Amino acid sequence: MKLKLDVLLSLAIALSSSSAFAQWLDVTSLDSGNGTKWSAPPVNGGKSWAEAYAKASALVANMTLPEKVNMTTGIPGRCVGNLGGVPRLNIGPLCLEDGPAGVRPVHGVSQFPAGLAAAATWDEELIYNRSLHMGQEFYDQGVHIALAPVTGGPLGRAPRMGRNWEGWFADPYATGVASYASVKGLQDSGVAATAKHYVAYEQETFRNQYGNFTESYAVFPPGEQRSISSNLDDKTTHEVYLWSFAESVRAGTAHVMCSYNEVNQTQACHNAYTQNHLLKKELGFQGSVISDWGGQHDNVAAALGGMDVSMPGSGFGGLFGVMWGDVLVELVQNGTVPEERLDDMVLRILMPWIYLGQDQKQLPDVVFNGVGSPFFNATSGYRDVRKDETATLIRTIGSNGATLLKNTGGLPLGNPQRIAVLGNDATDNDLGQNACGAGASSCPSDNLNGTMSMGGGSGYAYAPYIVTPLDALKKRAIQTGAEISAITLDSNVDSAVQSLLPTADVTLVFVHAWATEGFDRKDIELDPHMDDLIASAVNFSSNVVVVMHIPGVVDIEKWIDNENVTAVVAAWYPGQESGNGLVDVLYGDVNPSGKLPFTWAKSLDDYAPGTIVDDPVLAPQSNFTEGIFIDYRWFDSKNITPRYEFGFGLSYTTFEYSDIAIDESAAHPDEHAIQETSEPFLEYDGSNSLYDVLFSVTATVTNTGNVTGSEVAQLYLSIPEDDQPPRVLRGFNKVKHIEAGASATATFELRIKDLSVWNVVNQTWYIPNGEFKISVGSSSRSLPLTATWSKSS
Ligand SMILES: *[C@@H]1O[C@H](CO)[C@@H](O)[C@H](O)[C@H]1NC(C)=O
Ligand SMILES: *[C@@H]1O[C@H](CO)[C@@H](O)[C@H](O)[C@H]1NC(C)=O
Ligand SMILES: *[C@@H]1O[C@H](CO)[C@@H](O)[C@H](O)[C@H]1NC(C)=O
Ligand SMILES: *[C@@H]1O[C@H](CO)[C@@H](O)[C@H](O)[C@H]1NC(C)=O
Ligand SMILES: *[C@@H]1O[C@H](CO)[C@@H](O)[C@H](O)[C@H]1NC(C)=O
Ligand SMILES: *[C@@H]1O[C@H](CO)[C@@H](O)[C@H](O)[C@H]1NC(C)=O
Ligand SMILES: *[C@@H]1O[C@H](CO)[C@@H](O)[C@H](O)[C@H]1NC(C)=O
Ligand SMILES: *[C@@H]1O[C@H](CO)[C@@H](O)[C@H](O)[C@H]1NC(C)=O
Ligand SMILES: *[C@@H]1O[C@H](CO)[C@@H](O)[C@H](O)[C@H]1NC(C)=O
Ligand SMILES: *[C@@H]1O[C@H](CO)[C@@H](O)[C@H](O)[C@H]1NC(C)=O
Ligand SMILES: *[C@@H]1O[C@H](CO)[C@@H](O)[C@H](O)[C@H]1NC(C)=O
Ligand SMILES: *[C@@H]1O[C@H](CO)[C@@H](O)[C@H](O)[C@H]1NC(C)=O
Repeated sequence: MKLKLDVLLSLAIALSSSSAFAQWLDVTSLDSGNGTKWSAPPVNGGKSWAEAYAKASALVANMTLPEKVNMTTGIPGRCVGNLGGVPRLNIGPLCLEDGPAGVRPVHGVSQFPAGLAAAATWDEELIYNRSLHMGQEFYDQGVHIALAPVTGGPLGRAPRMGRNWEGWFADPYATGVASYASVKGLQDSGVAATAKHYVAYEQETFRNQYGNFTESYAVFPPGEQRSISSNLDDKTTHEVYLWSFAESVRAGTAHVMCSYNEVNQTQACHNAYTQNHLLKKELGFQGSVISDWGGQHDNVAAALGGMDVSMPGSGFGGLFGVMWGDVLVELVQNGTVPEERLDDMVLRILMPWIYLGQDQKQLPDVVFNGVGSPFFNATSGYRDVRKDETATLIRTIGSNGATLLKNTGGLPLGNPQRIAVLGNDATDNDLGQNACGAGASSCPSDNLNGTMSMGGGSGYAYAPYIVTPLDALKKRAIQTGAEISAITLDSNVDSAVQSLLPTADVTLVFVHAWATEGFDRKDIELDPHMDDLIASAVNFSSNVVVVMHIPGVVDIEKWIDNENVTAVVAAWYPGQESGNGLVDVLYGDVNPSGKLPFTWAKSLDDYAPGTIVDDPVLAPQSNFTEGIFIDYRWFDSKNITPRYEFGFGLSYTTFEYSDIAIDESAAHPDEHAIQETSEPFLEYDGSNSLYDVLFSVTATVTNTGNVTGSEVAQLYLSIPEDDQPPRVLRGFNKVKHIEAGASATATFELRIKDLSVWNVVNQTWYIPNGEFKISVGSSSRSLPLTATWSKSS
């Protein structure tokens, strides 16, 4: 089929001018205001929930109107979210708890590494296992619905976005892989997953303003301020922001959480176009859409716009505005909301509950053993549900995600006799390990917060302990008979540094940057005093190893090229086993294999401009004018050299790539859809799937160095379309434990969708004609192998 390049090209050009946006916004605000134009097809259970559909239908048929509404509206209770259920029919109550790094706000659970730390492993198996183990803890704490994982909202469009660390890669394909694995892992443990935050939720500033909930950026009175509107075109919606939610649906996610922002000037949780049309029709989603806490601003618009569960409903003392409940009963009674819509909501919440077996097996009682909150009823009691192997897994993710950015000989440490440690990040928080993370700013401003194992807000999880870097280093030093001395302050340490460092074989400097829900980072600097600490270290030591606990990019230009900085490790937010995982890498017990899940620029100005909008206006607008050109796609198309490219990370060994081959005989039908999407695609022949594998690509990876190592082999496609970036990631494969001198094969499977682009005219995926360039290598800018492929016929 000949493609009308001119049409697509003119759309791409139109996109870059803001007047085109104005025109487009008018169109969608008409379309997506309520459910009349965009409606969802009736649920039927899809591929996997047919039996659950039958059971759920029988239950709904027996429910009274108030009982149905009780299934859809949060009430006060012990958990972050509570559904009363229908006691008469043995349904519920149901408990919903945060979050993506562990059960919150609950003790007796693990603090897992943040999503970004797991992403940096580029290891699908570890990402799955992280969720599987986390799911077990949710289940054993009596949680029916986990408010996790973050599946591409945020995706990482804005480097300063306060919550990027909760999620995965600044790339739709890789975030799709992680979303699939993490949804499946949670649900394989029997807990319902909530893929969030849907959709195009890319900044905290102005994310909401409703009810009595006042955020730091409040300018106008509650109720007047509108949420930030993410304005994005259709191609960008499909190729970038919807992609990973499609993978979550395929993994069978029970729920999707609608986000705080507006999309094209309609509140996401009221948005019939994104919820009814895109999610429920195009992606065939059979589960429920749960509002983010306060994301619902209107009773009717949400019901007609495709939202299914109001959270927190009447919970949280009305902080977020009391929604649905009795009002929804009246709206159905007076015909404003059709009863079929209410039935549909209830089916969507009951089906996954039945499918996951939660109707058959009583979950353990919820013991609210958490931290005091005016909104939960704490009960006495404490239940530890951790398993020993989980700590080992957390340590493994930490070591496998640690990303070695620079190494001129500082690492591995070998056998240093005298070790100097610098920085408050090496040690414990003065006020206890969970003192700061619970809220956005819960520690006093002068508190010594200690090592940063996790960011703040609902994505925080309460650590049962934190093995600090200093704990683990001391243990190791004692084993090896070394001397170790630590200065655990960040400022006013010049004379101490001056006397300690010259006598040390190596100086390990620990620094961090804080990020939390509710705020975007104001810049990409390290926290106060930390650059000065490094400056002081390099003055007095010629062997300085810098370790950073960070939520994303930080500016390292002031010191990165200093010859005395002999190694730099990005250790992210690694969770409770922080020090153990790090020491494994520093001493070379684990050869580093982490790679960057985003582009590390030299300056904030190098990224696409204006991605955080903070104009103090009533209805702030964020125009996604860069379109599909986020992160590395921006740098590649604008020819900007980053400090470290997407996919970059060093090892203690070296790898060479050879022998790329395409194998069309590897074509096979999709084997991974737990639920199937209904996305249209031009290659549809009546029985195939958009997710069928068309061919595989193999490449040989040889360890040319002296130590065993693992390598993340990456595949990028140059798609033969004028409006595409130079290359997009469409495969990665972590080839593990290759011995020195040995070779292994990296295999990448390419599905129809991986080769497709979205046609906005025809509203369909299709594979462009022309020659695809396939590149394989160790990062987005180190791609020694190439091959070509074209669609036959
Ligand atoms: C849309 O689809 C029709 C029928 O398949 C095709 O003839 C036409 O070229 C397509 N248009 C574009 C812009 O791809
Ligand atoms: C976003 O686009 C609209 C419509 O073109 C324009 O009025 C507005 O100024 C833009 N906002 C920003 C922050 O660029
Ligand atoms: C939905 O929107 C359409 C078109 O804007 C309007 O005619 C209709 O009255 C609206 N319906 C409801 C229930 O608000
Ligand atoms: C529905 O109610 C009928 C009549 O009371 C009862 O026989 C049946 O078991 C109920 N079904 C369910 C699913 O509760
Ligand atoms: C706490 O428990 C009391 C007594 O059972 C109840 O009245 C109140 O509504 C509960 N509050 C919350 C937030 O659950
Ligand atoms: C709603 O849920 C609560 C808590 O389980 C229960 O006490 C109440 O009876 C339920 N309401 C209805 C109408 O079933
Ligand atoms: C937003 O509006 C544009 C222009 O009308 C449209 O192409 C796009 O599909 C809309 N996207 C969403 C997610 O509503
Ligand atoms: C604000 O909170 C009070 C209770 O503290 C509640 O009565 C009121 O409805 C809330 N206002 C809004 C808009 O939610
Ligand atoms: C329907 O009920 C709602 C909630 O009580 C009310 O706000 C609305 O005005 C009613 N609409 C009609 C048409 O009666
Ligand atoms: C400690 O954390 C709090 C936020 O919880 C912050 O306000 C404060 O500046 C931090 N302390 C230091 C020394 O960075
Ligand atoms: C490196 O460290 C040595 C002390 O070991 C110092 O004399 C020298 O000035 C430092 N070099 C730089 C570039 O900081
Ligand atoms: C491997 O070891 C040899 C001998 O010690 C050394 O010369 C060489 O540089 C090492 N190669 C790498 C890649 O480290």
